[in-house]
Amino acid sequence: MQPRTPPCTAPAESQTPTDVLVVGGGIIGLVTAWRSAQRGLSVAVVDPEPGGGAAQVAAGMLAAVTELHHGEQTLLALNLESARRYPDFAAELAAASGREVGDLGYRACGTLAVALDSDDRAHLRELHALQRRSGLESEWLSGRECRRLEPMLAPGVRGGLRVDGDHQIDPRRLTAALLVACERAGVIFHRAWAERLSVVRDRARGVVLGDGTDLHAGQVVLAAGSLSGRLAGVPEAVLPSVRPVKGQVLRLTVPKAYAPFLSRTVRAVVRGGAVYLVPRENGELVVGATSEELGWDTTVTAGGVYELLRDAHELVPGITELPLTETRAGLRPGSPDNAPLLGPTRLPGLQLATGHYRNGVLLTPLTGDVMAHALTTGELPDEARPFTPRRFTEPPLVPPTQPFATQSFTEQPA
Ligand code: GLY
Repeated sequence: MQPRTPPCTAPAESQTPTDVLVVGGGIIGLVTAWRSAQRGLSVAVVDPEPGGGAAQVAAGMLAAVTELHHGEQTLLALNLESARRYPDFAAELAAASGREVGDLGYRACGTLAVALDSDDRAHLRELHALQRRSGLESEWLSGRECRRLEPMLAPGVRGGLRVDGDHQIDPRRLTAALLVACERAGVIFHRAWAERLSVVRDRARGVVLGDGTDLHAGQVVLAAGSLSGRLAGVPEAVLPSVRPVKGQVLRLTVPKAYAPFLSRTVRAVVRGGAVYLVPRENGELVVGATSEELGWDTTVTAGGVYELLRDAHELVPGITELPLTETRAGLRPGSPDNAPLLGPTRLPGLQLATGHYRNGVLLTPLTGDVMAHALTTGELPDEARPFTPRRFTEPPLVPPTQPFATQSFTEQPA
């Protein structure tokens, strides 16, 4: 991996208004900034540590088909579209950041979802039926066929689904490349916490930093992952409803003598919990992930590590021979319907790019395109219309007693 070039930082006195101010320099904030700058907008990002966030923990599965869930058909279309854009996106980002496309860790290696017992197999059959009803490509394999593909699998594997279209990328390399691409495109970085949104005459005008610096912008994008609902000054009516969903993830190393340990992503549902093993070309093996609703807690627990290793060991017994090199927990930004919130809110000047939950890395290419479109035109492109933040805030069927248009967003003096 190439060393990360430090992004340019705005000098303290530089407070020239920008067209766009992105709050949050994680993978979603960075792709929004990069794509917007490419369209000629002046862009600044506010984040004490740009390039951090959930993508530093994520495994990077591009698993539109194997992570399909009942009731998420609309999200499926978005996920598939983003997966379709990934190869071109990776090539363009590699060129823009002075890398080879292979440096981003994009692997079109496919995924094998397996079952260990009859309950798992019933679950997988159900998933297969849903995939077929949705017109997706996946092939049912016997246990023996699974082991022929992946000889390290446990002898007890009862069957599986081969999905060649679910690929992977290395989110850390992707983020590092986005940082450089942003810098080269002229994005300014303010390495600080955004304390509060400024709202003047019913319009978002910028943010105030921790040291009192006022940053002004034509439009503000809230892209702070699971923290997006916590920015002071955002009117209650447009505050995004995102919550942190903790995921503990392990990183192991496959010594050269053991390679190839696995040739594709292997995943399963064991005792009701998802476990996946994502093998990188450089020998890293990522094992994830727990899913815990524990607020802002990012402690790595003995229980979490134990459960992941226990379940991964049932799938691939040889895993216990590998060096364990890292344990870490991150926070997925969960939304009420598990889908992202993209584009304009009802507060003029404020847009959202958050709530990506399990699909932040997968949805990165599409989010960048959608947000750049929304920031330049004020409208969402067709494919993103169902993901407007307004779906949670528009008055439902019953007319409101007080028309929304008469409400004021302007902050009242205390
Ligand atoms: N998409 C994988 C996870 O959220 O754990």
